Amino acid sequence: MKNATLRINTTNPIAAIDPRLYGSFVEHLGRAIYSGLYQPGHPSADADGFRGDVLELVRELKVPVIRYPGGNFVSGYDWEDGIGPQNGRPVRLDLAWATQESNQVGLDEFHDWLDKTGATLMYAINLGTRGIDEARNIIEYANHPGGTYYSELRKKHGREQPYDIKLWCLGNEMDGPWQIGAKTATEYGRLAAECAKVMKMYDPDIELVACGSSHQGMPSFGDWEREVLEHTYEHVEYLSLHSYYSNAENDSPAYLAKNLAMDDFIKTVVAICDEVKAKKGSQKDIMLSFDEWNVWYHSLGNDRNAPRFGPEPPPLLEDIYNFEDALLVGGLLITLIKNADRVKIACLAQLINVIAPIMTEPDGGAWRQTIFYPFLHATTYGQGMALNVDVSCPAYDCKDRQGVPYLDSVAVYNAAKNETTLFVLNRDLHTDMETKITLEGATELTQHISYAGHDLKATNGPGAELICPENMPCAKMEDGTVTLSIAKASWNVFRFRLS
Ligand code: AHR
Repeated sequence: MKNATLRINTTNPIAAIDPRLYGSFVEHLGRAIYSGLYQPGHPSADADGFRGDVLELVRELKVPVIRYPGGNFVSGYDWEDGIGPQNGRPVRLDLAWATQESNQVGLDEFHDWLDKTGATLMYAINLGTRGIDEARNIIEYANHPGGTYYSELRKKHGREQPYDIKLWCLGNEMDGPWQIGAKTATEYGRLAAECAKVMKMYDPDIELVACGSSHQGMPSFGDWEREVLEHTYEHVEYLSLHSYYSNAENDSPAYLAKNLAMDDFIKTVVAICDEVKAKKGSQKDIMLSFDEWNVWYHSLGNDRNAPRFGPEPPPLLEDIYNFEDALLVGGLLITLIKNADRVKIACLAQLINVIAPIMTEPDGGAWRQTIFYPFLHATTYGQGMALNVDVSCPAYDCKDRQGVPYLDSVAVYNAAKNETTLFVLNRDLHTDMETKITLEGATELTQHISYAGHDLKATNGPGAELICPENMPCAKMEDGTVTLSIAKASWNVFRFRLS
């Protein structure tokens, strides 16, 4: 047994958490849409063709905002293909993912689906093959009440009320050589600024996300952010970050420390934003939209042999997540919450079938992956004021870094519920941690959810959701302190009632 202390710091709150920190992402990719959320003829499908079993799980996750329609897909997408009578829509080649796009789901259907989930839309426009013209037309179609060409077209398509989309991405990963219409920072920065300008001529209150680097390992990382912001600083509210994590090397101690790399990434991008702010003498802070993050590596081998350009949506990026992936996802959520002062939006990439917490069987049901649970805990208990936790515990060295604390932790104070929730990741793979937790003003530990005791490589599957968290008996609190054991290799949620 090792020993640790966790003291929740109530005097220096980090920031109020923007509920959009727990957003997600749905792309026209693989089976995310077709045989994912949309499958007319499926036994659970409603009159609009949306799978009821998937809707139930999306509602259970309480996702507040969903980014759509891509991803790489959007850089070759003509949104007009996805509106109007479904039987007249063109089937196109999707060059980003080497598939066919039937266009049976487009903006209107996706918006209908979102209405059923309770989430709002974060819409990415195409700055690969398109630009200013698309920007001004799609905002007219989506947001203008009526009396103009595009708003009347929306009404003709049966959607009387405007969608009032408030959050827009100016393209996707435009620095990536794989991206259709990839651009230099100068080309992209200028185009993004001009698109932002026309969109805000229509509605100055919308919020815009400019593309940061595709990931932190891009050769132009840093320079890209700096130059893009030099062009767009006064036109946008957010800069995007994307990052995927892998345990391809099967080094679990190093893998479970990878949320610390996410923290480094965020801090570096914040420093660049603030450097540009200082150079410009601006009054405004650019906030971050970490709009693609997750574990992604299990499916890479399969995807290399996927059929190309066939009529059926192929099973692409269908990572089957194991228990250690869920632990890392918990750690990544801790890092996002710790940075809630600058990261206002984040999207777990993605939501359904494609590197997703929710999976479907085309001829069967929907099921929860291991990573479903830490995300659910964050959306359920992670609303309120983010609080730092002073952690004192042993540490270890691994391949990528030294002095990795075994415990990682953050807390969230929820005034409406008069409670504080503590999230804790225990990275120690061999030994439980005897832990003293102190929270001034706490009267009772009301719930301890522990996700522990599973083989690191254990997975869930259709009809076999065995890798689940469980409620533990609650240790007694005395004078704001509770002493308990935190299981080795575990993700934990502690809820404290306040006086
Ligand atoms: O989420 C999968 C892909 O990862 C997205 O399409 C792209 O933006 C990123 O590279």
